[in-house]
Amino acid sequence: MSKILVTGGAGFIGSNFVRMLLLGSDHEIVNLDALTYAGNLENLADVQDNSRYTFVRGDIADAAGMQQVFAQHRPELVVHFAAESHVDRSVLDATAFVRTNVIGTQVLLDQSRAHGVQRFVHVSTDEVYGSLGAWGYFTEDTPIQPNSPYSSSKAGSDLMVRAAVHTHGMDCVITRCSNNYGPYQFPEKLIPLMIANALEDKQLPVYGDGKNVRDWIHVADHCEGIKVAMERGAAGEVYNFGGDAERENLFVVKEILRLVGKGEDLIRYVTDRPGHDRRYAMDSSKARATLGWTPRHTFESGLRATVDWYLQNKAWWERVRSGAYQAYYEQQYGGR
Ligand code: NAD
Ligand code: DAU
Repeated sequence: MSKILVTGGAGFIGSNFVRMLLLGSDHEIVNLDALTYAGNLENLADVQDNSRYTFVRGDIADAAGMQQVFAQHRPELVVHFAAESHVDRSVLDATAFVRTNVIGTQVLLDQSRAHGVQRFVHVSTDEVYGSLGAWGYFTEDTPIQPNSPYSSSKAGSDLMVRAAVHTHGMDCVITRCSNNYGPYQFPEKLIPLMIANALEDKQLPVYGDGKNVRDWIHVADHCEGIKVAMERGAAGEVYNFGGDAERENLFVVKEILRLVGKGEDLIRYVTDRPGHDRRYAMDSSKARATLGWTPRHTFESGLRATVDWYLQNKAWWERVRSGAYQAYYEQQYGGR
């Protein structure tokens, strides 16, 4: 049993990870989260009374605040999810991305080193590798060539983690994963946005020709990958995780419409995302061979279960889509 500081545990993947560890291990969890627009304690309402769970509100870019958190809680392990995570928001304004993703990660690395943290797991993304053409896969040796402000800030954080390993001898592991979907995903991302819009008979905004490809992985498979990388990964190594489920965006959108029983007339082609990466596809053979990891969900069964979750949790996403979300939606889609 270890004491684990999880950053960003009130977000989509972080909350799934915290729940998995509380229900499936004996680790003690300190969830550190600033509760930005994407952080929602409702995501963990079912486990918040667990005696092994503590929530701390804090901003990872606040060095003095983090010094206090580390001194008070003395974590043995850090699993770092906290980030600004949405590409479109980074196109509108990159400031928070640099602050949280780059500076925040460096603050956590400094505090981890100062307080003798045994291992730092940095949760990163396939987007740091850039964009693929029609064939090929990202491996851990693919050069880092990020294209968006979001992915560039994540690449910056990956490089600071690399520097902590090589300069300071820290024990860090970097995980890079493809596109996640599943319960509690904020409805600004493709799959939950399309499900929620379809259920409300709103238009489904497809960027460009809809033929960009993403490699979809169920969030539970990603969380399992992070867990085994934390437990069994080698210090200083990078591990790719993908779902072996490459799909064109238009295929995903049509599949969602079919699952919710709505017509394709809801699809609206809108101006493409600037700098839109064409295709992502992950080679996860290193994680499979060295960590014994394998994804358990197929895209078809995972998407069906996700649509069911959004059907059963309408109150959750209706609340999330009220207030500030409306202003973002108008700014992002209003003029397209
Ligand atoms: P999310 O946006 O749903 O959650 C991010 C969380 O971080 C929120 O709870 C937010 O409140 C918190 N946060 C933001 N800024 C903070 C700050 N300054 N201090 C403390 N907390 C702060 O994101 P997600 O989709 O769950 O992604 C989690 C991590 O996984 C990110 O690092 C992201 O880059 C990475 N990742 C995501 C995907 C994906 O498909 N969603 C794929 C690969 C990697
Ligand atoms: O690949 C991992 C990354 O996946 C993570 O690092 C990011 O945090 C996560 O947001 C996600 O990035 P994407 O940009 O790939 O995800 P998003 O859901 O925003 O978009 C998926 C695809 O769908 C992409 O090709 C853009 C397209 N899209 C998206 C939205 C929101 C649309 O066509 N219309 C939309 O309205």
